[in-house]
Amino acid sequence: MKMNNPDLESSVAAGFTDAGPAKISANKVSVYYGEKKAIDEVSIDIHTRYVTAFIGPSGCGKSTFLRTLNRMNDTIPSARVDGEILLDGQDIYRSKMDVVQLRARVGMVFQKPNPFPKSIYDNIAYGPKIHGIAQSKSELDEIVEQSLRRAGLWEEVKDRLTDSGTALSGGQQQRLCIARAIAVDPEVILMDEPCSALDPIATARIEELIDELRGRYAIVIVTHSMQQAARVSQRTAFFHLGNLVEYGRTSDIFTNPRKERTKDYITGRYG
Ligand SMILES: Nc1ncnc2c1ncn2[C@@H]1O[C@H](COP(=O)(O)OP(=O)(O)OP(=O)(O)O)[C@@H](O)[C@H]1O
Ligand SMILES: [Mg+2]
Repeated sequence: MKMNNPDLESSVAAGFTDAGPAKISANKVSVYYGEKKAIDEVSIDIHTRYVTAFIGPSGCGKSTFLRTLNRMNDTIPSARVDGEILLDGQDIYRSKMDVVQLRARVGMVFQKPNPFPKSIYDNIAYGPKIHGIAQSKSELDEIVEQSLRRAGLWEEVKDRLTDSGTALSGGQQQRLCIARAIAVDPEVILMDEPCSALDPIATARIEELIDELRGRYAIVIVTHSMQQAARVSQRTAFFHLGNLVEYGRTSDIFTNPRKERTKDYITGRYG
């Protein structure tokens, strides 16, 4: 059946056979808001150890599709999802998968940093506590430190862990949110324009961090910046009007796109 999936064929043609089994495999996923179809039969495989960038003009459905990957669209009453999304081969919509558990496995970082109005420590400790990941205070301390270290924030906050997370700078808050996602030991991290509220220096820090993290996770990043997609990703998916137009190696998408619509977008003809 998968042989009939045109996007899968193109991903094989793009040389993705070296990537191992897909972490997430979306098959003919459509998303409706009421009567309106926002995503039209999108099929894509996402792999661990790669950063996959979603690009495309405003309103093409990047955020909508990203949210299907951890059922964040469930929180929008008018949204309906068709098709299947497999996480390690298990359908996240139709199996008995617990949504809270799913969102720990597939974490999300939003455009605007959204730390809890709690201490820096508690921002990180909250998830491991509710998921029962840490049994003791010392285990929790260790998870907090390690998550903050991995997010490149430990040195800046280690002496002020009881300060409020909201008292940090925008770039620090975004790294705190990344640390919070990491703390529950996710397999996939979804990021929806994580740098668009940040200055260039904070953006560079986050981009470095994404590159460091990619060895452990599958990372998907929505970005409006073609430069950012080219810098941080190895795979790029170009969306237009709810369709996945082209998916391939980032270098191919930017230097040698196969579709006319991709070429028009990356050369700035629209968007
Ligand atoms: N909660 C919602 N209710 C109804 N329609 C929605 C909702 N969210 C998004 N849409 C519509 O779905 C389509 C895709 O929107 P989406 O936010 O996914 O696009 P996007 O590619 O992320 O855009 P941007 O780059 O501006 O963030 C748009 O037509 C949008 O108006
Ligand atoms: Mg969006």
